[in-house]
Amino acid sequence: MEEQEKYIQALIKLHLGLERQGPGDTNYSNHILSLITELPQNPRIADIGCGAGAGTLFLADRFKSKVRAVDFSREFLDELSNRAKQRELEHLVETVECDMGSLDWEAETIDLLWSEGAAYNLTFEGALKAWRPLMATDGIAVISEISYFTSEVPEPVRAYWQNAYPAIGTESENSVHANKSGFEILGIHRLPSKAWWDNYYEPLRENMNTLKHSKDSIMQSVINETEEEMKLFEEYEKYYGYSFYIMKAV
Ligand SMILES: C[S@@+](CC[C@H](N)C(=O)[O-])C[C@H]1O[C@@H](n2cnc3c(N)ncnc32)[C@H](O)[C@@H]1O
Repeated sequence: MEEQEKYIQALIKLHLGLERQGPGDTNYSNHILSLITELPQNPRIADIGCGAGAGTLFLADRFKSKVRAVDFSREFLDELSNRAKQRELEHLVETVECDMGSLDWEAETIDLLWSEGAAYNLTFEGALKAWRPLMATDGIAVISEISYFTSEVPEPVRAYWQNAYPAIGTESENSVHANKSGFEILGIHRLPSKAWWDNYYEPLRENMNTLKHSKDSIMQSVINETEEEMKLFEEYEKYYGYSFYIMKAV
């Protein structure tokens, strides 16, 4: 197995069994949806980079509409299918195991595109360009993207993100990408930092404790990097975080 593939497998293993694979919060998602007034009665929905499907299940339950749930990890999709069965929502969940950058769906068939903490895999700009053709007329995209909250950030924050995700942008830079890719920004809303800790980092820390004695050196690196990420967020959360971009296809 290639190093990069082993790294991805370790990352997936560290996140198995968790409700979420990234920062998010169902009440906050509900709040975001309450701000959107323009959806059809039974929207055609996609959750891209769905992980184990916290967002998918929330959307399926809320709209009682089918959700196409895309991820390249079979393990996460299997967790989603099991959870959908437990919640009697399996008839509303269609798992799609594929690369989020090569969705070959019919054009203009998605009314609500949802993606939490996953677009960065294509870069925000790349995701918008790849997904825009899928959007139905006046369709809505809700994408949470790691974003700078200020134009000047402290050096440790800049250095960290320059290495981890050089394409990170401010909310205004991301708004320019949205406009250039055929979206109108309807609103930008910051996920509260409490959601990072309560729903993501604290459960993740339990998995880290379980796996920290692993002899797998790649797992050790993934755990060390995650600890570094948590420390940075603890100190500098006012400078960056996840912003939800609510956008309309125009
Ligand atoms: C940070 S997690 C977020 C998961 C979920 N949306 C959540 O908020 O809990 C990012 C997800 O994107 C998936 N992913 C990463 N790159 C991908 C790609 N190129 N194609 C499809 N899925 C991908 C990962 O497997 C992971 O489940």
